[in-house]
Amino acid sequence: MGIRTAHAERVQQDPFKLGVASGDPLPDGIVLWTRLVADPYDAPSMGTTPVQVEWEIAADPRFRQVVRRAVAVADPALAHSVHVDVRGLAPARDYWYRFRTGGHLSPVGRTRTAPSPRSRPGAIRLGVVNCQDWQNGYWPAYTALAEEDLDAVLHLGDYIYEWDPNSTYPDRLHTTPATPGLNQLVSLADYRARHAQYKTDPALQAAHAAFPWIVTWDDHDVENNYADLLDENDDVGARRQDPATFALQRAAAYQAYYEHLPLRQRLDPGSPDYRIYRRFDFGDLVRLNVLDTRQYRTDQPGGFPRDFGPPAAGTQNTAGTLTGDVQERWLRRGLADSRALWNVITQQVMMSQIRFPNFLDPTRPLPPIANLDQWDGYDPARRRLLQFLRDARVANPIVLAGDIHSSWFSDLRIERDDLNSAPVAVEFTATSVSSDFPIEFDAPLKAFNPVFNRHVRYYDGSLRGYLRLNIDREQWITDARTVASIAVRQSPVITSASWAVAAGKPGLQPA
Ligand SMILES: [Fe+2]
Repeated sequence: MGIRTAHAERVQQDPFKLGVASGDPLPDGIVLWTRLVADPYDAPSMGTTPVQVEWEIAADPRFRQVVRRAVAVADPALAHSVHVDVRGLAPARDYWYRFRTGGHLSPVGRTRTAPSPRSRPGAIRLGVVNCQDWQNGYWPAYTALAEEDLDAVLHLGDYIYEWDPNSTYPDRLHTTPATPGLNQLVSLADYRARHAQYKTDPALQAAHAAFPWIVTWDDHDVENNYADLLDENDDVGARRQDPATFALQRAAAYQAYYEHLPLRQRLDPGSPDYRIYRRFDFGDLVRLNVLDTRQYRTDQPGGFPRDFGPPAAGTQNTAGTLTGDVQERWLRRGLADSRALWNVITQQVMMSQIRFPNFLDPTRPLPPIANLDQWDGYDPARRRLLQFLRDARVANPIVLAGDIHSSWFSDLRIERDDLNSAPVAVEFTATSVSSDFPIEFDAPLKAFNPVFNRHVRYYDGSLRGYLRLNIDREQWITDARTVASIAVRQSPVITSASWAVAAGKPGLQPA
């Protein structure tokens, strides 16, 4: 194959400590992922030589009916990660896969291809996860998720957090960034070690091994509230960076993200950009438009502390965009030419117009403020999109969001307070897997929302977990699946809320 590769014997110890994963399901294809490590926290410990890795995919869990088998190369330039784009598979089928190198066999993963484009699937089940701060607790949500029966899992971002080591759990302390005095990740080695740390978690590995994942990123995968090449606006001292310097940090973050996740689109090492927005179809039942609302966005308006400020800053942000023009046109095309019954916009930040009590000034909770990092900071762009959904008669639009570490199920209208008009779409914002939502905000919001956010039909900030989407031809049901505690590795999961949307009749109803 034209490159020198290590003899298998040279892989001394089990290199599959980070598990296996699959993703980006197509009707005929799937991406298989693993990454070889010696010391997970030190990528160079795996050496500077490419390593040959055998992979195989079978129609049964005991690998009696292997349908494809070949050799891939784990490239040290990409931290010895392996991304295999397997094609020629049958649609809507379960497959099992594994890797082998140097006499070591990886764990077995199960995956599933998407239904044929010409098919009319009766039902699709998806999981939705986001925001998994390692330091804030454990991931019983992933143990529970791995036991579900799902066609795919959607990860909406904050797969890692970039901040410094500081945890109440001695075994959940973040890795230490290499730059002295800089309490966040910045270099490629920093981001690689952090991703590898997260990937050592057995619950996360189990969830990856159980289903194909469709992932996209949010801010903490690089840095809190970054916008294109502008870093966090509250940064001071060594953390404050000019765009050219931040571009290097972003490139490192994007590369480590790619190296640790089952993405099809190839990344060029060192490239400052990576196109992650893309589309998936599940027959004629579901179209997923997976967005990237960080890489191409304009800065949050106003430069307010923590990007919370008066709602007017967002309504006046006429030039603001969360998607950039190219992705916005791509999204419109994908919505307009869709044949799907359900058209999903899978993205990061809440699209619903939300007013928050002014927590920045405890003596004056009113007038309410807006989170200008969400679509509230980009109101004209949101209005444009909602009007398009209405005018183009997009079938059954559903918005998925995360980022805020709490559950918000809302009716989306062009004028949010016009409660007598039919909603244009419905939004399900998923709570976090483990990231913190300040509990002292929960009770005030539960009292505040029925008065100031009347289009929000369900809110909860007290529970961690994931969403389970049960989508069929008559209705869409979203179950909030939440665990009792993240202070322990194993915790029972329950359905704490269940809301439905009837096909052809936009608007939330209790399921
Ligand atoms: Fe988050």
